[in-house]
Amino acid sequence: MAHDAPLLAALNGDRPDTAPIWFMRQAGRSLPEYRELRVGTRMLDACLTPDLAAEITLQPVRRHGVDAGIFFSDIVVPLRLAGVEVEIEPGRGPVFASPVRTPADVEKLTSIDPDVVAEHAGPIRDAVAAVVAELGDVPLIGFAGAPFTLAAYLVEGGPSKEHLRARAMMAGDPASWHKLAGWLARVSHAFLEAQIGAGASAVQLFDSWAGSLSPDFYREYIQPHSTTALAGHDVPVIHFGVGTGPFLADMRLGGLADAVGVDWRLPLDEAAAIVGGDTTLQGNIDPAMLQAPWEILEAHVRDVLRRGEAARAHIVNLGHGVPPDTDPAVLTRIVDLAHGAE
Ligand code: CP3
Repeated sequence: MAHDAPLLAALNGDRPDTAPIWFMRQAGRSLPEYRELRVGTRMLDACLTPDLAAEITLQPVRRHGVDAGIFFSDIVVPLRLAGVEVEIEPGRGPVFASPVRTPADVEKLTSIDPDVVAEHAGPIRDAVAAVVAELGDVPLIGFAGAPFTLAAYLVEGGPSKEHLRARAMMAGDPASWHKLAGWLARVSHAFLEAQIGAGASAVQLFDSWAGSLSPDFYREYIQPHSTTALAGHDVPVIHFGVGTGPFLADMRLGGLADAVGVDWRLPLDEAAAIVGGDTTLQGNIDPAMLQAPWEILEAHVRDVLRRGEAARAHIVNLGHGVPPDTDPAVLTRIVDLAHGAE
């Protein structure tokens, strides 16, 4: 069992001998063994093929010796399970056949019972169970997309820079917005439950695009729904977003989040002063630094570790995901440094 694992200790507010470390997007294109396995299989098909999803999840744990696996899947997988027509286009991201923009679109989508996600989650449960059996003492982190980050794709119909259409729905038709976000929260909740039920030891909610919101919009239109997605699970939870410095305290969700993720813009000692003494921090190595000469990267990682000491506990990670062109040997070296072996 993974109960004494450093990651879970840190989520519980303890400081294990060395700070636990894992990387967002550690599975994926930075690994040649991943690129090889993915040849000829579409992203969402890979996510729904249990053997493949399990093997891809395990690859970075074996290679880097990180303190956690993150389940290989995608934030739009539960929407696919609910019957929504979605594909992930290489180099672009999630694309929806029918954007959800009008009150009628919202009515139609939300008439789908979110419980169908649980009914169709067999491949997710099988993959998670296979991973957990292989990982032994290393915990598996399950994840889901936060309602806003999912809506940012769904309302637009695909990736966008400022997520204007989703934010315009909040401003112009709050009733439709709350209906849509409430439904997305239940879909993500069901996706998290499937992973927890099959053995995930912790979960992370990704609100990657929350930084496009003002603090007032965040509190009014997002926070209640992200709370719904994360409430009532019996494992520790991490809440992550990019550019959330202006409302970092709100990312605690009133104490529901055991840990809050911080991007590279906000030094961890400043973040610790904002979230206070009852929240673990996760982050915040700048992904751009992965390209720098080792001496510069090493000094940056040591600075992150030192500033992380201001938090009640620290989970070392990047400020956002691993860029696809990252040299994986650099990631392994960062793990060794965090573990005190450099
Ligand atoms: O290793 C891990 O972190 C676990 C796997 C994971 C993926 N997506 C795999 C993936 C996780 C946690 C996600 C979440 C996700 N998906 C988020 C939130 C995290 C973040 O990075 O902010 C978002 C915004 C998405 C939506 C999405 N899916 C995008 C923007 C893209 C990139 C499109 C591209 O090709 O550049 C994807 C595709 C995706 N998800 C890939 C992977 C490994 C690449 C697909 C491929 O290999 O072809």
